[in-house]
Amino acid sequence: MIITVPTKPYSDQKPGTSGLRKKVPHFQQEHYAENFIQSIFDSLEDFKGKTLVIGGDGRFYNREVIQKAIKMAAANGFGRVLVGQGGILSTPAASNIIRKYKAFGGIILSASHNPGGPNEDFGIKYNIGNGGPAPEKITDAIFANSKTITSYKTLDMGDVDIDRLHSFDLGAMSVEIIDPVADYAALMEQLFDFPAIRNLFSLGFRMVFDAMHAVTGPYAKEILENRLGAPDGTVRNFVPLPDFGGHHPDPNLVHAKDLFDEMMGEDAPDFGAASDGDGDRNLIIGQGIFVTPSDSLAILAANARLAPGYSGGIAGIARSMPTSAAADRVADKLKIGMYETPTGWKFFGNLLDAGKVTICGEESAGTGSSHVREKDGLWAVLLWLNVLASRGESVQEIVRQHWAAFGRNYYSRHDYEEVDAEAANGLIDALRARLETLPGTKIGELTIETADDFAYHDPIDHSESRKQGIRILFEGGSRLIFRLSGTGTSGATLRVYMDRFEPDSALHDIDTQEALADLIAAAEELADIRTRTGRDAPSVIT
Ligand code: G1P
Ligand code: ZN
Repeated sequence: MIITVPTKPYSDQKPGTSGLRKKVPHFQQEHYAENFIQSIFDSLEDFKGKTLVIGGDGRFYNREVIQKAIKMAAANGFGRVLVGQGGILSTPAASNIIRKYKAFGGIILSASHNPGGPNEDFGIKYNIGNGGPAPEKITDAIFANSKTITSYKTLDMGDVDIDRLHSFDLGAMSVEIIDPVADYAALMEQLFDFPAIRNLFSLGFRMVFDAMHAVTGPYAKEILENRLGAPDGTVRNFVPLPDFGGHHPDPNLVHAKDLFDEMMGEDAPDFGAASDGDGDRNLIIGQGIFVTPSDSLAILAANARLAPGYSGGIAGIARSMPTSAAADRVADKLKIGMYETPTGWKFFGNLLDAGKVTICGEESAGTGSSHVREKDGLWAVLLWLNVLASRGESVQEIVRQHWAAFGRNYYSRHDYEEVDAEAANGLIDALRARLETLPGTKIGELTIETADDFAYHDPIDHSESRKQGIRILFEGGSRLIFRLSGTGTSGATLRVYMDRFEPDSALHDIDTQEALADLIAAAEELADIRTRTGRDAPSVIT
């Protein structure tokens, strides 16, 4: 029976870079999740009778919200829901399901790489029919609805069985509980040269994939071990756990330190990789070498032709503004389009839909292509494997040859987490106020060429996104970027990005932080980071 439940609005349901993210207890407040889901439905038009995809990364509170979403979808008039078995769908797999089955959209429950558990993070985001994150027009409407909501619609009934592959009717809506892995694995098999990768493993190629007890475990097991013949044990921590085993499922050098140490040690495997909570990020490490996400984007774009899915070449490349400019030189050489967008995968959607770009990436360990409308961790790992199998060289050789051919971008991001929001905003505002006075300023050896607050004009729908980060460009091509995170759940996170281009191969072996010392000093001098944040050093350096 459909019921209308009276409710009162919350004022803090503004979706951030990737949906609404809050701590679990915050989400457990009365009607909090329901209000947000109803606000999503109220921002959509003409979905009656259509299909909605529902799934999540399996974190704490996933199952509860899956149940709420299914019942609310039925009460609001959807015709069919496709739900990942056990409530599981990685973010890229959900994007694929939306596209493949021509769904109207999808609800994905995840807080990505943030920790999970009763007092950790949870999130809800809405993806549109192209499989990608909702554009700002929709997220703004969701926020507006959330501030005026007075009731939501649901079914007055107990929970449904989401753990068996089966179909049933819920009022006028049908529910299909689907295999979360099958469609995704089939897509990967189309894009990549599985026989060549299988051959690589059969010749003794050694790989470690750390699923970090997050959603990619079952995907990686099926694809790497079952279909590609990697030895049992290649995929570690493959059982998804609601609290990710107490770890932070963020595949970076801090949270995947064990993997990094192993890859730098004696007798390291040939290839190390990891993904995050919801499966859209990737970490790529070769024997003795960490590949920065910005380099990985450039190298994958330069070598994509080696994979069957991209054998015709790529149409263009897009990167988020703070991502290093390494990919720009690949686009130049290939004579294809290069697009610089604000942070957040949603800005790639229009370019991908319009066929302007094939490969996209962000410095934050996100790489992907036109095969779905989300970044895709395992996709990046498989493309690397395909390139390694085709070229018959090591990761180290491939990266060094790339630098020799294109030059090297030394790159690092310094994060100051959970700083006082007022202090962080003050720092950005102070920079913003000085932008016009900066060009020509000398800081040590560096001279500022231009300074702006990045604004993006979408070439397809002509929307404008302003205030996307303070960008300081120096003579010679180095860049310094300051922005505040849009994904945190407590306080503010200041991100400072340093990018230095070095064409000379004789200078390609410097330690990254050392190579960036001048830029790091310039950041402090320009922004007074220490005084304003009260921090002596960044919380995370990647
Ligand atoms: C971060 C990353 C950004 C990514 C987003 C979602 O956002 O910087 O590249 O798209 O997570 O995974 P931020 O916290 O910086 O707003
Ligand atoms: Zn993620």
